[in-house]
Amino acid sequence: MTGNAIFDYTLIGVFIAAILSVLVLIFADAPYGRHQTDGWGPKINTRLGWILMESPASLVFLYFYVTGPNATNLACLVLFCMWQLHYFHRSFIYPFQIKVKPGSKTTLLVILLGATYCGVNGFLNGSYISTYGNHLNDAWLSDPRLYIGIALFGFGYFLNKKSDQILRDLRKDSTEGYKIPYGWGYRFVSMPNYLGEIITWVGFSIAAWSLAGVSFVVFTMANLVPRAVANHKWYQETFTDYPKDRKAVFPYIL
Ligand SMILES: NC(=O)c1ccc[n+]([C@@H]2O[C@H](COP(=O)([O-])OP(=O)(O)OC[C@H]3O[C@@H](n4cnc5c(N)ncnc54)[C@H](OP(=O)(O)O)[C@@H]3O)[C@@H](O)[C@H]2O)c1
Repeated sequence: MTGNAIFDYTLIGVFIAAILSVLVLIFADAPYGRHQTDGWGPKINTRLGWILMESPASLVFLYFYVTGPNATNLACLVLFCMWQLHYFHRSFIYPFQIKVKPGSKTTLLVILLGATYCGVNGFLNGSYISTYGNHLNDAWLSDPRLYIGIALFGFGYFLNKKSDQILRDLRKDSTEGYKIPYGWGYRFVSMPNYLGEIITWVGFSIAAWSLAGVSFVVFTMANLVPRAVANHKWYQETFTDYPKDRKAVFPYIL
């Protein structure tokens, strides 16, 4: 806790929102991608939706980072680069990489909820690093937690990107339809991109040693673990030859 009421209550709110998300997602699949259904209100262009949903995490973080007093600390700059490495890509490059059919639309409600969280998350992590994280000084540059966090972040980042690329390659000849993905993390789980995402933010939260980072891990898991379980079930029901020993998201466990 920082002593700043807005920051602290927002942080508590994210943990509560994570619990609510799990409860909702146990009973209903978020209506996008393979689980998209009608009846959730208006839809918007899928690529535009990704940009609108993810860019607040990059831009709001940027604002609160540069307006904080510690923005030029080297340890803070390292964390800034890690964050933007992921979120600049996710906001402004990934939306143009995905293989979607022309005119593809996605549920606006999902985009609005996602964008709201991304903005809150950008505020919490950007302002924590550059304003409240007093331990993120030059001494932190020789703390093993920074390097353990960077290593985990790098591994998760690679796993996430490699897994998403394997999915794109499945649609080389057509922008729609689903096939069984193989190789790399898919040898173990149905959703290695989600596993990579979770590991990425575990690494970041260790490198930053912050409760704001932990809130992101908890919120990410609250969203991605139920989704991974639903997608795994969908794969098993859709493909009779789906590999039997594959788990949903955590190898050998779930
Ligand atoms: N931090 C967070 O809380 C959070 C939340 C959500 C997503 N993400 C990240 O955002 C990225 C995308 O998430 P997502 O939920 O859209 O992942 P996804 O369900 O794995 O889909 C990723 C892309 O691959 C396509 N695809 C999926 N399975 C396929 C298959 N078997 N054959 C061919 N194409 C396939 C999807 O098409 P369709 O759209 O047509 O299904 C989509 O374009 C992931 O890296 C994820 O980790 C993060």
